[in-house]
Amino acid sequence: MTTLSLSDQAIAILRGNDRGGYTVPTEGLYPYQWNWDSAFAAYGFAEFDLPRAWQEIETLFSGQWQNGMVPHILFHQKDDGYFPGPDVWGTDKCSGNAVSSSGISQPPVAATFTRALFEKDIAFGKEKLEALFDKFVAWHGWFMRHRGESGAICVTHPWESGRDNAADWDAAMANVDASNVGDYTRRDTSHVNPEMRPTKRDYDVYLSILYFARDNGWDEQRILDDGLFRVADPTLTFTLLRANRDLKWMGEQLGRDVSEIDGWIVALEEGVKSLWNEDIGCYDAKDLRTGLFAGNVTSAAFLCWYAGIDDKRMLPHLERFLIASPHAVASLDPTSPHYNPKRYWRGPVWVIVNTLIGIGLEDAGYRSEAERIRSDCARLIEGGGFAEYFDPEDGTPAGGGVFTWTAASWLAWVSKDPKEA
Ligand code: GLC
Repeated sequence: MTTLSLSDQAIAILRGNDRGGYTVPTEGLYPYQWNWDSAFAAYGFAEFDLPRAWQEIETLFSGQWQNGMVPHILFHQKDDGYFPGPDVWGTDKCSGNAVSSSGISQPPVAATFTRALFEKDIAFGKEKLEALFDKFVAWHGWFMRHRGESGAICVTHPWESGRDNAADWDAAMANVDASNVGDYTRRDTSHVNPEMRPTKRDYDVYLSILYFARDNGWDEQRILDDGLFRVADPTLTFTLLRANRDLKWMGEQLGRDVSEIDGWIVALEEGVKSLWNEDIGCYDAKDLRTGLFAGNVTSAAFLCWYAGIDDKRMLPHLERFLIASPHAVASLDPTSPHYNPKRYWRGPVWVIVNTLIGIGLEDAGYRSEAERIRSDCARLIEGGGFAEYFDPEDGTPAGGGVFTWTAASWLAWVSKDPKEA
C-alpha cells in the first residue's frame, strides 16, 4: 500500500464522516460532534480543504455556553445509537445556547490547531480568526476560573480529560457511591467488543457523577464544592498551557491585548509543578478531594514538551516506554499492574496522543524520539487502518474503525516528511 493511497483513504474518511459542517468521530459508536476530535479533524481538513477546516472550528463554537465553556459533545441531530444522549445530560436550560450539548468540556487543543490553519493562509485566516478570537479567550478563561483552583487544571468528570478509563481516575472513582444509579442501557458495547471498553462499574460511576451535576443545574461552584469528582489532570493542564501560548501568538497577529493570556501562561507554568509526583518522578494526576497522587506514569505526562516545558527528568520514562513496546507510545506504563494492551486508555496506543507528543518533541529538538513515534504510527496505520487505537504489543487495531482523528493525524503529521513538519 503506498503513502498516496493511504492519504486518499484518510481524505475519504474525513469526507465520509462529514455531517455537514462538522464531522463525527466514527459512524455508529460516536454519532455526534466531539470537541477535541473536531480540532483534530480541522487539522486534517487543512491539508486539502482549508475553508472546511475553519468551518469545523466554527461549528464547534456554535455550541459554546454563555459562561464560555465549549462542551465535549454537541448533539446536533438526535441519534439513538449513543448513550448518554441529550435528555440524560439535561443541559438545555442552563447553557444559554440553542444547541444541545453535554455539560463538561474536553482537552483544549483547538487553539493550537487553529493556529496551524491560520499559518497556512494568513490573510484568509485573519478574517476567520477575528470572529473566533474572543470565543477562544472566553473558553480558556472558563478553564482558568472553574478548573484552575490548584494551579493545574482539573477535570470534574473522567470524560472531560478525553482519557475516559485511564488508571489516573481509579482511586477517585473508587470513592464514588454509584449504588443509586438505576437501570440504563449502554450502547457502546453493542458497537465494540466489551473487553475493549470501560467496565460496568466505570459506567455506573460516570453516570453518578453526571447525575449529581445535572441535578445541581450544572452549577460550576456547586460541582467544585460538593461534586463527586475533582482530579487535577496532566492532559488538561499541558494542552491548555500550549493552547494559551498559541492563542497569545494569534492575538498578537490580530493586534489584540494579550496581557490576560500572558497571566494564564505564567499561572499554568507554575501550576504544572504541582503535578510533579516525587514518589514516581513523573507528572501525575492528583485527586483534589483527598490531595493524593494517582501514582501512574501515563502517556499524558509526555505532553510536557507539547506544553513548552523541556523537562529532562521525563526523558528516561520516554525511553523506557519506547523500549517496552514495539508499537509506542503505550497510554499506561507497561510495567503497571493496571496495564492492559486492549482496554482503551489503560494501555493501547492512540495515534492522536502520539501526534501531540511528537509535535512537542519536534519543537524541543528531540528529533530521533519524534521520528520513532512517527514511524510507529505509520506502521500501525499501514497494518491496521485508521482505527480508534491499537495494541502496543502486536499492533492489532482496536475499538471503532475508520476514525476521523486517526485519519486527520495521518494527513497532518504522521505522513509528513519530518523536515516539513
Ligand atoms: C472517547 C474518548 C474521547 C473521544 C471520544 C470520541 O470517549 O475517550 O477522548 O473524544 O471517544 O472519539
